[in-house]
Amino acid sequence: MKNKGVFICIEGLDASGKTTHAHRLVRNLRRKGFDAVYTTEPSRGEIGRFIRTYILQRKRRVPSVVEALLFAVDRVDHVEKEIKPALEEGKIVVSDRYVYSSLAYQGAAELDLRWIEEINRLALPPDLAIYIDVPPEVVVKRIRRKKSVMERLETQRRVREVYMKFVENGKLVAVDGNRRKDEVAKDILTVVLDFLKNYSNFQSV
Ligand code: TMP
Repeated sequence: MKNKGVFICIEGLDASGKTTHAHRLVRNLRRKGFDAVYTTEPSRGEIGRFIRTYILQRKRRVPSVVEALLFAVDRVDHVEKEIKPALEEGKIVVSDRYVYSSLAYQGAAELDLRWIEEINRLALPPDLAIYIDVPPEVVVKRIRRKKSVMERLETQRRVREVYMKFVENGKLVAVDGNRRKDEVAKDILTVVLDFLKNYSNFQSV
């Protein structure tokens, strides 16, 4: 059954500006009269918070299989507790990262993409998925502090390769993120407004 609301996710490498742009998109949509909400993965729920301490704040990587499973569990929790209820209320939900992050990051760690898809089968598919494309060399320069394993150049290059596969097969819409913030924000808003125009019966309040 079609959702009452619209589910959008924003993807990108670390420090690609995706959090800034997800927030800006929500503000811009609200200005246009849409009821939009921001959310993020790892989620703000208990499992998401556990992931931040157990995986992201560590120096050494936990096995990729464990990462993939934990992100998938958090995703189901996120969908059930936050995303579905907001969609039921007819909102536009903008998620800062979603299933493509698992495919790209855990896929870059050599896990089989089909298996990652399989464990995420219960995750509601997004209506629109946007990839903010910034070269790995640029994001790595932006991350000045000591880099975690996920943020190193080689990792970011592999992650981008996986994201680009989904851009090529039309699952992700790419926006050039290596420009002034205002230009990037404008392009993202245009992609979303064009999408909403063709999304049957969806109107601003
Ligand atoms: P962020 O603050 O950029 O959102 O960082 C979250 C980190 O978690 C980022 O390095 C990507 C990683 N991640 C995965 O590896 N798999 C996932 O499924 C998600 C949601 C995030």
